[in-house]
Amino acid sequence: MVKIAIDGPAGAGKSTVAQLVAKRLCVLYVDTGAMYRAVTLTALKQGCSVEDEHGLRELLDKMNLTLETKKGIQRVYVDGEDVTEAIRSPEVTRCVSTVAAHPLVREKLVEMQRKMASTQDVVMDGRDIGTAVLPDAELKIFLTASIEERARRRFQELEQKGITVDYSQLLHDIAERDRKDSERRTAPLKKAKDAVLVDTTGLTIEQVVDRIVELHREKVGER
Ligand code: DC
Repeated sequence: MVKIAIDGPAGAGKSTVAQLVAKRLCVLYVDTGAMYRAVTLTALKQGCSVEDEHGLRELLDKMNLTLETKKGIQRVYVDGEDVTEAIRSPEVTRCVSTVAAHPLVREKLVEMQRKMASTQDVVMDGRDIGTAVLPDAELKIFLTASIEERARRRFQELEQKGITVDYSQLLHDIAERDRKDSERRTAPLKKAKDAVLVDTTGLTIEQVVDRIVELHREKVGER
């Protein structure tokens, strides 16, 4: 079975790259960050504090969180409602790393992610896929880029959507999210020992996708 883990910090291009790699290999793409975001959105809507670990777990146990791929895009549903766009709001983005730091939340989502990968070929992206979710993945990639490049990409992405933000604020927010994701006690963002480091600074998306597909071909060829 195909199991590819792609981890790395915010803004390294993981989701774009992982989605294209999955398309090239004709396998399912799973964006695990979207699952942490869906829990965060539901908590905010229901007035559950993002600090309340037990409350969040209870909410997660009750909610029906599903992922579906439509026209090559992963869509996220909570209790049948399509929340794909809503989970990208600035408020969710601001609160999600607090939610993702709770072990009781991670335990349940990791279990769901493993189940998905046990029945289907996947390219999965996140922060702990190579280290915790799929430690036996045949290929692990740690995707990164300089913080300035990541902030620049986010800035352009938002600009294209007609949203103007302050570049230095954006840089600060990304640094803060990196810090929270890397310093948390449970499953921090960390390169797995056997992951291949791919620095995307100065590379095009196509170059990165080609490199990962090539690495996969080499791995499979080795067997
Ligand atoms: O990739 P993203 O920005 O959508 O991720 C949202 C948050 O969820 C981010 O703060 C890191 C966290 N996350 C995580 O802790 N583990 C994962 N496997 C995926 C995301």
